[in-house]
Amino acid sequence: MPDITDEGAIEEAHRAIEMGSNMQILGRDQVNDLEAILSVSNTDVEAAVHAVRSNYDALFTWDYEKGSRPKLNRLYEKAKSAQWNGETDLPWDTDVDQEAVVMANQAGLNAEMDLSGTPFAKWGDKEWLEFGVESQNWTLSQFMHGEQGALLCTARIVENVPWIDAKYYASTQVMDEARHVEVFAKYLDTKLSGHYPINAHLRTLLDDIIADDRWDMTYLGMQIMVEGLALAAFGFMHMMTTEPLLKQLLRYVMSDEARHVAFGVLSLQDYYQELSAAELRERQEFAFEAAVRMRDRFLQQEVYDRMGVPVKDALELVLAAPDRNQFQALLFSKIVPNCKKLGLLDAADGWLRTKFTELGVIQFEDMADTGEEYEMFALANGQPRSA
Ligand SMILES: [Fe+2]
Ligand SMILES: [Fe+2]
Repeated sequence: MPDITDEGAIEEAHRAIEMGSNMQILGRDQVNDLEAILSVSNTDVEAAVHAVRSNYDALFTWDYEKGSRPKLNRLYEKAKSAQWNGETDLPWDTDVDQEAVVMANQAGLNAEMDLSGTPFAKWGDKEWLEFGVESQNWTLSQFMHGEQGALLCTARIVENVPWIDAKYYASTQVMDEARHVEVFAKYLDTKLSGHYPINAHLRTLLDDIIADDRWDMTYLGMQIMVEGLALAAFGFMHMMTTEPLLKQLLRYVMSDEARHVAFGVLSLQDYYQELSAAELRERQEFAFEAAVRMRDRFLQQEVYDRMGVPVKDALELVLAAPDRNQFQALLFSKIVPNCKKLGLLDAADGWLRTKFTELGVIQFEDMADTGEEYEMFALANGQPRSA
């Protein structure tokens, strides 16, 4: 029995309660605390380089037996024949009229909300158009920054994963991610009208992933969470956009991303079966933190700031918009089934299930997991099977 007059024991009990609290994981008690969300902002936007320190082991393996992990081997063989060239395989000569595209995609938007008395009350067509343009510049900028995060993470997986089949596969993903950064940067430079620095919540998440020295956390953070969300977000934009170059670009990137998410699922599936409940709980907390950071990033606070409206007031309206929850939830349609397949939803008394229920995304748990569906996204002879 611990002595309850012992201060050390009391402190320990406090720490045990703290573990896994929102405060400990997210730095705030309430997931939707807008003040706290907005207090995370970038301070060094002018810096050209951002350094993240991490101490991890780079692993040599002397077991060169190719195919001892057959599913990873198959993925590697697929990846080798699915390479495309961002310079020559996309129709860069397409004329893009950004304002016309934004107008076409915006049609019907905001029609249902009563905005009188809000910061948007004075906005006319001109402001809404400007907002749409900024919003697109912001979104594509964040895609580009996220792709660079994937480039760094995957280069690191080549070093720190212990299996030769995974090192081989990860090396193909390094090339894929370089191509993704390249095509998003080119699209921003040649077809759109401005860039944004990395969103502070996205940067916090990427920093956390890179700073963690456990090899599986690189996978969990990047392949399962960031790329799972990217696959859903690209799919949504691919469906919505009327611009043919962007549509094709996204379709090509998605064919790679589906493989990347599959790589995460196939690599972690067996490994997570060996972990203890306490170790799984750490992974659950990491997954939850990543989910909330990505939700926060999609609030696009920097766009409202640039448009000169009070950001907190604007975001209160955004969160209350009738279709917001649906859109937000859709972004998690890949992450939730993949977490389930890894055993993360129900481990440790279902902690993550409870958290995903609170976030309003648990309904996707039985959708197809990406370990299986990547073949559907494949391109046939360089052409999308379904555009
Ligand atoms: Fe990518
Ligand atoms: Fe990727």
